[in-house]
Amino acid sequence: MTEFKDLVQKRRSHRKYTDEEIDADDLKLIIRAALMSPTSKNQRAWQFVVVDDKQDLEKLADAKNLGSQFLKDAPVAIVVLGDPMQNDCWVEDGSIAAASMQYQAEELGLGSCWIQMRGRGLDDGTTADTVIRGVLDIPDNLNCLCIIALGHWTDERREQSEDKLKWENVHLNKF
Ligand SMILES: Cc1cc2nc3c(=O)[nH]c(=O)nc-3n(C[C@H](O)[C@H](O)[C@H](O)COP(=O)(O)O)c2cc1C
Repeated sequence: MTEFKDLVQKRRSHRKYTDEEIDADDLKLIIRAALMSPTSKNQRAWQFVVVDDKQDLEKLADAKNLGSQFLKDAPVAIVVLGDPMQNDCWVEDGSIAAASMQYQAEELGLGSCWIQMRGRGLDDGTTADTVIRGVLDIPDNLNCLCIIALGHWTDERREQSEDKLKWENVHLNKF
């Protein structure tokens, strides 16, 4: 098993994938990681939509103007949702769940990339939320935080370099 210290160094965003499907057991492990992630007041109020329909993936890729087109070529995406009225920590809870899925994917040798949706949209003013809600029949009370693209990567990435870590951003006792 990959040690966590190596996993965090190896994890990079992957945006190019083969056509190969993701094994169902692997996908389940990835979702399990989200469902085991910590949440404020242990609310576990997030919702996830697993999307493997090619046409829907293409529509989701067009939900914002930049940084999501590669979703068209991902075999699977996980849409991370929360209810801002029910949970004041929906962004934090969703973020931890999303990152947990990315680390589980990395451990399985799969590529992933976070696609930001909260606060994003199209040039004509349409929000990404509006597009996503329409494509996936999401109830009005839920907002989309992000979409995690998953796949067997083809874009080799270098592991993170120890020399580039921003240790200067870490302060001891006082800033
Ligand atoms: C909050 C957040 C939003 C992001 N949004 C996008 C996005 O919309 N599209 C994209 O391609 N990558 C997105 N990323 C991935 C970052 O670009 C990536 O993590 C960063 O460049 C560092 O590269 P690495 O993940 O390979 O270490 C996002 C990451 C985070 C944490």
